[in-house]
Amino acid sequence: MAAEHDLDPAPNPHATEEQVEAAWTDPKLANVLYHDWEAGTYDEKWSISYDERCIDYAVGRFKAVAGDAGPYEHAMELGSGTGFFLLNLMQGGVAKKGSVTDLSPGMVEVALRNGANLGLDVDGRVADAERIPYDDNTFDLVVGHAVLHHIPDVQAAFAEVLRVLKPGGRFVFAGEPTKIGDRYARKLGQLTWWLTTNVTKLPRLRGWRRPQEELDESSRAAALEAVVDIHTFDPAALEGMARSAGAARVRAVTEEFAAALFGWPVRTFEAAVPREKLGFKWAMFAYRTWQRLSAVDEKLLAKVLPRSLFYNVLITGTKPE
Ligand SMILES: C[S@@+](CC[C@H](N)C(=O)[O-])C[C@H]1O[C@@H](n2cnc3c(N)ncnc32)[C@H](O)[C@@H]1O
Repeated sequence: MAAEHDLDPAPNPHATEEQVEAAWTDPKLANVLYHDWEAGTYDEKWSISYDERCIDYAVGRFKAVAGDAGPYEHAMELGSGTGFFLLNLMQGGVAKKGSVTDLSPGMVEVALRNGANLGLDVDGRVADAERIPYDDNTFDLVVGHAVLHHIPDVQAAFAEVLRVLKPGGRFVFAGEPTKIGDRYARKLGQLTWWLTTNVTKLPRLRGWRRPQEELDESSRAAALEAVVDIHTFDPAALEGMARSAGAARVRAVTEEFAAALFGWPVRTFEAAVPREKLGFKWAMFAYRTWQRLSAVDEKLLAKVLPRSLFYNVLITGTKPE
């Protein structure tokens, strides 16, 4: 299914050498090429599904920061990717009608296909969060997941979000890395990668070694992973940005400390070994353990540790009436 708007550009999953070269100094072009390349395999890579597990996760994140769970009449997602956040929120009853948007035409195409397969009332457009192609006062809710840290001018994006929201409308962004959280997650990831790829060189563990894909013609854009992440956030500074853009009732919360210390090595390990070695039991073990540690974070550690220490920051606010 093509992106709905006639003027939307077509996906470009096979970037040329010249395009990739130019993208090293142009973070928006890097995001388009990288995510167009990734769109077709994104759900599988990140274990994204449209069932109870991901519905609970999406609605849980929404409630954790917004307090309520709607229902909102018309919601729009920025940087929707394949639709993970908005489509699961819609399935959980948070919004009735949805508009998916992303800078990557490939992602919009997949999100629209996922929405149609789920029988949801969804349309979509290619959109840069800094210049949202919708009229003022259009939406009751704007959401995003793991998108703010890719946007060069986050304050401009907040101003655009407030422009397209109806007065009294709400925004919710989740899944953004904190400054401190990103530092320990990266270190843990690097250590796990080094350990796994070296231990699997032992003759008895060769079967656990994942063949490292060469960057050929079709996956040239993969190298741009190094330039698509632009920011990490201090929760108070993020709140300041939303307020300066004109938002009211702004509130940031953070989540995942013990869960992140467990989750990052697990995710890196999963990426370093052949997929078929792990399977359903492992996935359930990883998910249930992450859930238990998240409960420890929420019920215990959040009461005694500073919020900037947690890995994820979520933010909400409203457009003044
Ligand atoms: C890490 S992915 C997250 C996708 C999805 N929200 C999820 O959680 O699975 C970030 C997405 O933001 C999009 N993106 C990056 N820069 C953007 C921008 N300036 N405006 C809109 N979307 C952008 C990317 O194309 C990509 O699909």
